[in-house]
Amino acid sequence: MTNAQSMGPLRIGLIVGSTRPGRRGTAIARWAMEVAERHEAVRVGDAVCTLVDLAEQELPLLDEPVPALFGDYRRPHTLRWAAVVDACDAFVFVTPDYNRSIPAALKNGIDYLYAEWADKVAGVLSYGVRGGTRAADHLRAILTEVRTVVVPTEVALSIFTDFDFTGADSGDPTAGRFVPADGREAELSAMLTEIVTWSRAGRPVDQARVAADQAELVS
Ligand SMILES: Cc1cc2nc3c(=O)[nH]c(=O)nc-3n(C[C@H](O)[C@H](O)[C@H](O)COP(=O)(O)O)c2cc1C
Repeated sequence: MTNAQSMGPLRIGLIVGSTRPGRRGTAIARWAMEVAERHEAVRVGDAVCTLVDLAEQELPLLDEPVPALFGDYRRPHTLRWAAVVDACDAFVFVTPDYNRSIPAALKNGIDYLYAEWADKVAGVLSYGVRGGTRAADHLRAILTEVRTVVVPTEVALSIFTDFDFTGADSGDPTAGRFVPADGREAELSAMLTEIVTWSRAGRPVDQARVAADQAELVS
C-alpha cells in the first residue's frame, strides 16, 4: 500500500506538540487549521486536515515492553494513539522550542509508534523566541528515524514578531495574542502544497527494509 493508493482525500493530521496548560500551541494550531481550510487541495476535496491534540491522548512516559519497530503494542493507550496516527496519511507537526529541542511529550508520542509514522510525509511548523528552529531541526532528525519524510519548506514563528503584546503585563510570561506576521499564511500554504505533492507521489512501504531494521535491533 502506498499513500498514493489510499482511497479518498489525503488525510493530514495537524499534531499539537505541546501539552501544558495555557500553551500557545493551541492558538497557532487553530490558525494553521484555518489556513489549511483555505488551501486549494482542501477546498477541492483532495485533502482534509484534522487536529490531533497530543494532550488529549494522555500518554504516560513510554511504558511499552517491546520497541515500536516490532509493532507489538500491549497498552490500551498505545493502541488508541496508534489508531489516531494510522488514520493520517501525512502530518503537520506544530512544535515549540523547549530548551533547544521539542517538548518531551512530543518525543514520547513519536517514540510510542513506528509503522504508523513510516513512509508518510510531514511538515514542521515551529515557534519560539527564535522561531523554534532548533526544535525543528531536532524533529527532522527524529522523524527520519521513524521513516517519516519531512518536506524542506518550514514555518518558523517568533514569539516576538508573530504575537501582539499590546497592553500586556511585561512581567507575565504567558502574555501575548497570536497575530501571524504578513506572509505566514503563504509560507504555511507552500508547505501544505509540498506535503500534498510529495504524498501523491507515493512511497512504497518496503517490508524487507523493516525486517532488516528489526534484525539489527535484536542482534
Ligand atoms: C520548558 C520550556 C523551555 C523553553 N525553552 C526555549 C528555548 O530553548 N528556546 C526558545 O526559543 N523558547 C523556549 N521556550 C519558550 C517557548 O518557546 C514559548 O514559551 C512557547 O510559547 C512554548 O510553547 P507552548 O506555549 O505551546 O507550550 C521554552 C519554554 C518552556 C516552557
